This record gives sequence, C-alpha cells and structure tokens, in this order.
Amino acid sequence: MRKKVTVVGAGNVGATCAQELARRDYANIVLVDIKPNFPQGKALDINQAGSVLGYEPNVIGTNGYDETSGSDVVVITAGLPRRPGMSRDDLVATNEAIVGSVTKEIVKRSPRSIIIVVSNPLDAMCHVAKSASNFPRERVIGMAGILDTARFAASIAWETGMSVKDITAMVLGGHGDQMVPVVSATTVGGVPLEQLAPRGRISKMVERTRTGGGELVNLLGTSAWYAPGAAAAQMVDAICLDEKRVLPCTAYLEGEYGIDGLYLGVPVKLGAKGVEEIVKLRLTTDEKRMLRTSAAAVREVVGVLKSR
Ligand code: NAI
Ligand code: 2OP
Repeated sequence: MRKKVTVVGAGNVGATCAQELARRDYANIVLVDIKPNFPQGKALDINQAGSVLGYEPNVIGTNGYDETSGSDVVVITAGLPRRPGMSRDDLVATNEAIVGSVTKEIVKRSPRSIIIVVSNPLDAMCHVAKSASNFPRERVIGMAGILDTARFAASIAWETGMSVKDITAMVLGGHGDQMVPVVSATTVGGVPLEQLAPRGRISKMVERTRTGGGELVNLLGTSAWYAPGAAAAQMVDAICLDEKRVLPCTAYLEGEYGIDGLYLGVPVKLGAKGVEEIVKLRLTTDEKRMLRTSAAAVREVVGVLKSR
C-alpha cells in the first residue's frame, strides 16, 4: 500500500520537498497552504510533470486539513522564511503561532503520524511541535543537520577537488551560526579530512558551513529551498521505507551528549518508528565545548517561546 505524506506549506521548501517525494512514487502526497488556490496550483503542476518524469499524479493541494487524515509522515514548512538582515531566530514569534496551530490540526487527523519540522528557528519550532502534539520524542524530529552537512560536504569538495560522493561528514548542534561541523568524523574516501587539508583551509570550510544559510539569503533575498527540500525528503524516505539511516537530525535529548530537555542536532537512526536511536559519536574536547555553546544558544531561543 502507498504511504501517505502531508507537506504543510506549499512555498519554496514545501513544494520542492513534495516534488522530490512525487518523483520517488511510493506515497500519496497532500500539500496544504493557507493561500487560496496556491497548493492546488502547485499540486497540479507537480502532477503534470509526472508524465514527463515517470511518476503517478498523486499529489493533492488543499487549504484545509481533512485530506491529510491518516498521514504516515507530516512535514511542516509553514511559516515565514528569512530575509536579508534577519537571523533564523528573528522569526520566532510569528512562526511559533503558525507551527503550533498547524501541529494541532495535524494531530487531530493523523494521531499516529511522525512529524518532521522544517520551519525556523528550527530547534525552537521542534519544541513547539512537540508541545502542541504531545507526541513522544521519537515522532517529532527536525530537519537541519542533513542540510548543514550537505553544505559542509559541498565546501569540502570544492576546497579539495575531490568528489562529494566520497565525502562522509556530520554537522551537529543547533541550526544557527554556532552549529558544529564535526571535523574529527569527516572523511573523504575513508581518509580523515585532517590528513587531506591544512588546518586553515578546514577552518574556511567550517566557517562557510556555519554561515551557509545567510550566504544564500544574501544571494536570493529569501532562504534556500532546493537543498532543504531534498534534505526533508531524505528524512521522509528513511521513515517511510524503514531505511534505518544514520543521519544528523534535530532530536529531543534526555541526557544524551550531556544535554537534557532540549532539541539539538545529533546523529540518529531513522526508521519506521521515527528516531529509533540517538547514536553516540565520540567528540574531541573542542567539539564537546562547541556543542555546549550551540546548545546554550538554542536554549536562549527556546526560553522566549510562549509554548514549551
Ligand atoms: P515560503 O514563504 O516560500 O513558504 C512558506 C509557506 O507557508 C507560504 O506559502 C505560506 O503561505 C505558508 N503558510 C504560512 N502560514 C501558514 C499556515 N498557518 N498554514 C499553512 N501554510 C502556511 O518559505 P520557505 O522558503 O518555503 O521556508 C519555509 C520555512 O522553512 C521558513 O520558516 C524557513 O525559514 C524554513 N527553512 C528551514 C530550513 C531548515 O534547514 N530547517 C531550510 C530552509 C528554510
Ligand atoms: C537555511 O539554512 C535559512 O534555515 C535556512 O537555508
């Protein structure tokens, strides 16, 4: 039987994610947005592309939630994106109200679903979705680490001239400028990055990763969508296809990595039950310190939420 995936927010990231998923052809997709006619139009366009690209036209666009009933996975991308000069955290009050209300509509109709949060500020919005849904931590997960890791990997490929396909990297922590590209766990074809590039070049790659979201906002006038949409779709794949992928995702920590009661990016085993395990990665003393700094930055934003 085909899976059912709802994507809330038919804007740049939501529509890209829906199109990526449509191309996989294993799920029926519902695309929800408050803008009249907008999700319907996006769904129609994605469906018509199916004839060219070779997938069934199974995307429904709607301004309501009845069509979302019984979803296996729900991706929440509703909310405002960043504009130049804004940090992700500037979006907190507006997007808290949106993510809270969207989550409540979803859980009424899909009480067994797994929620993937994309809206920013990401780590704080995961707290909002967890609190509004009352779901266990396994079923409310954030997307950020796959995107940040993709940016790190692209940067490594450009700096070393080596194929991105052979790069294994991991970016942990909050989805902000304090994120932690874990150099000690980064390899190219199994060779540690530290053996392939001098420290100064690695620092440049780390810095470009940390400011990668802002770099795109400055170029585009709004935030990115191709890589974010693809990253969210990869998480949906891991859950719907029970892939047991080990991916950097934003998960609620209860003591893991020495952090308690906070959403933060860590490696997780992602499968049919959602977060099936929080995978322990041995970090250097410096990386542990950076993770604590990143956690403190996330706690500050979570501290201003009305719903926690
Ligand atoms: P966008 O503006 O293109 O799309 C957002 C959509 O949400 C709009 O179509 C809007 O009508 C809709 N919306 C607003 N309120 C709604 C509600 N109550 N119910 C349903 N739909 C609603 O923005 P974009 O670029 O798609 O970004 C979406 C969110 O994802 C932003 O908060 C952005 O900052 C975040 N983002 C997060 C990333 C991550 O790594 N976690 C990466 C990229 C973006
Ligand atoms: C990004 O990293 C702004 O979170 C968004 O592209």
